[in-house]
Amino acid sequence: MREKLFQKFEEVFGDSKDAALYFAPGRVNLIGEHTDYNGGHVFPCALNIGTYAVARKNKENKMNLYSMNFASMGVVSVPASDFVYKKEDNWCNYPKGVMWAFQEEGYPVTSGLDILYFGNIPNGSGLSSSASIEVVTAVILKDLFGFDADMVKVSLIAQKAENQFNGVNCGIMDQFAIAMGKKDHAIFLDTADLSYTYAPIRLDHAKIVIACSNKKRGLADSKYNERRSQCETALAEIQKVKDIKNLGELTEEEFEEVKGAISDPVNVRRARHAVYENQRTIRAVKALQAGDIALFGKLMNESHVSLRDDYEVTGKELDTLVEAAWEQKGVIGSRMTGAGFGGCTVSIVEDDSIDAFIEQVGKKYLATIGYAADFYVVEIGDGAHKVEE
Ligand code: GLA
Repeated sequence: MREKLFQKFEEVFGDSKDAALYFAPGRVNLIGEHTDYNGGHVFPCALNIGTYAVARKNKENKMNLYSMNFASMGVVSVPASDFVYKKEDNWCNYPKGVMWAFQEEGYPVTSGLDILYFGNIPNGSGLSSSASIEVVTAVILKDLFGFDADMVKVSLIAQKAENQFNGVNCGIMDQFAIAMGKKDHAIFLDTADLSYTYAPIRLDHAKIVIACSNKKRGLADSKYNERRSQCETALAEIQKVKDIKNLGELTEEEFEEVKGAISDPVNVRRARHAVYENQRTIRAVKALQAGDIALFGKLMNESHVSLRDDYEVTGKELDTLVEAAWEQKGVIGSRMTGAGFGGCTVSIVEDDSIDAFIEQVGKKYLATIGYAADFYVVEIGDGAHKVEE
């Protein structure tokens, strides 16, 4: 991989003098969906697929950006001081957003850079390819400009780039998981105060299988922002009767007591998901720690039902994948993962059932939806870093 990337860098930028290699993973969330902007818990892990980047400083006062995944766009050059969102710059708005966000946070970007990117996360799959580009860019800037920002700060800067430069009002989960990931561990993160612990994922005789629906995500960003504002409206109404900062503070019983304060019945369901999913995530991590993987799987299934019926972010494609998974032998749990509206499902499947799982779920998906899903048996990798030789 290293050789191939440096070779391409030389082809694009003339030589690879002073260039270094960086990597940021994609992520999959095991449970705790649409809780991160409600002050709740999430339980994601970093993957061993992600975004590679070769980078160095240049003397041109320009950011020269090239992606092997968007090779037809060639090198996109932007001034190294004034970062402006431009629709036609496409994927480059992610790195530009990070450069902008560092400047905004008081970290001066003092020279141009040449950067070549290559990602092996399927685009738009809901495995956070965009956050992966953001975080790898942030790690490059931190390293080359010597910014004194720890990896939690790096994740917050990458989130700011997504929120304020790219206009997606996402929570902190993706950038945090990608910056802070740890091999063979998931991160139990409380998004209310960013406290976290690493939980070892020891799945004896089972693996994590991701199924990608290949559904184009279309209006996903606007629907995501809509869900978020529905939760905010529900919270504001609850706050008139109970002193809380966010929905993640409520237990199920407390929610049932105050839900009458929410005027729109749709928003009752949105808030109910946020509250119940948060409690479910706390219980799921306890189950895992107690070695009760069957209960963990059952809670994953319940998470999907809540995302389907109360939060309404699944859609026919993800429901087909998950409902087919539930019928298979050896499936411990299965649910949609990420924002929804397309993207991927995550399942825990016993080793000796994986081949049949992929075949059967794949067949059912093709017959129902009309195009194929892709399957990946994944491993949990480390967070973003410089790849030393
Ligand atoms: C997207 C967002 C995250 C999170 C998930 C849903 O991945 O980027 O912040 O809200 O959706 O859990």
